[in-house]
Amino acid sequence: MSNSPAAEAARRRTFAIISHPDAGKTTLTENVLLAGGAIRAAGAVRARGENRRTRSDWMKIERERGISVSASVMTFDHAGLMFNLLDTPGHEDFSEDTYRTLTAADAAVMVLDAAKGIEPQTLKLFEVCRLRDIPIVTFINKMDREAQDPIELLDEIASKLALDPAPLYWPAGSGGRFKGMLDLRNDKFLPFAKKTNDNKDEGHPGAIAFHGAAINSYLDPDEQAELEEGAMLIQEASKPFDPKAFLEGHMTPVFFGSALRHFGIDQLLEGLGAYAPPPKAVAAIKGGEPTHVAPGDPEVTGFVFKVQANMDPNHRDRIAFLRLTSGKFQRGMKLKVQNTGRQLSVNAPIMFFASDRELAEEAFAGDVIGIPNHGVLRVGDSLSESGTLRFAGLPNFAPEILQRVRVKDPLKAKHLKKALEGLAEEGVTQLFRPVIGADFIVGAVGPLQFEVMADRLANEYQLDVLFEQAPYSEARWLTGEKADVEDFASKHKSAMGTDIDDQHVFLAKSSWEMGYVAERFPKIGFERSKERA
Ligand code: G4P
Repeated sequence: MSNSPAAEAARRRTFAIISHPDAGKTTLTENVLLAGGAIRAAGAVRARGENRRTRSDWMKIERERGISVSASVMTFDHAGLMFNLLDTPGHEDFSEDTYRTLTAADAAVMVLDAAKGIEPQTLKLFEVCRLRDIPIVTFINKMDREAQDPIELLDEIASKLALDPAPLYWPAGSGGRFKGMLDLRNDKFLPFAKKTNDNKDEGHPGAIAFHGAAINSYLDPDEQAELEEGAMLIQEASKPFDPKAFLEGHMTPVFFGSALRHFGIDQLLEGLGAYAPPPKAVAAIKGGEPTHVAPGDPEVTGFVFKVQANMDPNHRDRIAFLRLTSGKFQRGMKLKVQNTGRQLSVNAPIMFFASDRELAEEAFAGDVIGIPNHGVLRVGDSLSESGTLRFAGLPNFAPEILQRVRVKDPLKAKHLKKALEGLAEEGVTQLFRPVIGADFIVGAVGPLQFEVMADRLANEYQLDVLFEQAPYSEARWLTGEKADVEDFASKHKSAMGTDIDDQHVFLAKSSWEMGYVAERFPKIGFERSKERA
């Protein structure tokens, strides 16, 4: 096989799984990794009743199954394709992190609970995918439980997401009456096998002809007629699957299954292989001029979408996750960071295969490599051989909750500064320093982030901290003519702060004050998000 960057990129499928909590993202992730050969089944007993609010669903898998998968990406070679599955945090407090991770994905699998359909968090995550033009594959999960009428589920996708659902399969019943599903493209029936009487899962039979004699072993004539009628109805009522409309974000192919019972997973993987897009060209700026970076371009380029500390307690490094956008990366290569001009010899890049980290000898567009470093790399950095290329920055969102953080032992204030800066660089929190006073104000999108912060400060930095209500309720980045911004800042010293990049931030005491000030200073922009320069 040709090893050219273009040919290698063409066989990459880089995707993420999104869902409302409890729809089955963790179970599906685990089963996709199993089906792809990325992990082996482990016999560890699932811990019940444990605190389920983990930072990452993969940590949950790791803890419950005793398998080591705590990486932000898992790579597996399956059916001639290289799949990169990106982990997205499970809890809504981490939506900012999720947003960033989705900048590195070329497609997303949206998991719906067949009994619940579209839930609030599904909708939020869907909006993020739409913002980033990420095509969405739908997996309707838990068919082994009583489900809503599948036609109603498709209607809901159409009405709530304004997306044309195109079912590729059609289910026969649900819950205790779930018998399997019909492949609408070739008239093959996939039987679903219940667990045996002694609760054993013996796998599911292979596909059979829907109109052959063998079908009698799985469906009685009434069930067969009902399925046939349902399939006909839905095909008349919905548009046929159109790969182009899917790639443009107007249509979603719909799969059915049961992640828990490992049913429909191979079909989902097959669908991702056949229809999910390989990496595409990305907009960038080179030498001040807008340009596009194509996956087959010879120059190695990429961007950092996530930085993670302490992935392995034996290594205290931070790992920056670089999504490659072009070229053929080889171990030992030198890459430059565009905004700082720093050069990096990437001698120990990591890829995450089969529950193991491995040194990446080579990687191509679509792949994600982990680069151990000591704070050189930040979220949003653009890396390339020439160092002259910049991808559009990854936005930071204005936090919805601001808190003042204090360390219980005052002698450790210096440590606190370093630790908070570290967490802010990773994107775990946002850090603001008011111009007046010595406070540390940390911002988060949701309350759980503070718990995680306290946990990490205690475990990784041995700092016992207290969070207190901050005298501010909103933070906004200032934009506008430099002179106007400076003038505004000098007039509002008591409400000014700086962020980790030393950019001006206005800290308002209330949303009323925010509105009042914004009205009086029309030349100044008060932005809810900023893109790092
Ligand atoms: P999440 O990551 O989206 O939050 O969901 P997760 O996979 O943790 O699944 C949530 C619950 O739904 C779990 O049950 C899980 O076993 C169950 N589940 C997932 N997929 C299926 C499926 O296809 N069929 C059925 N019947 N159940 C499914 P739990 O009882 O809350 O947790 P546990 O006690 O099994 O750990």
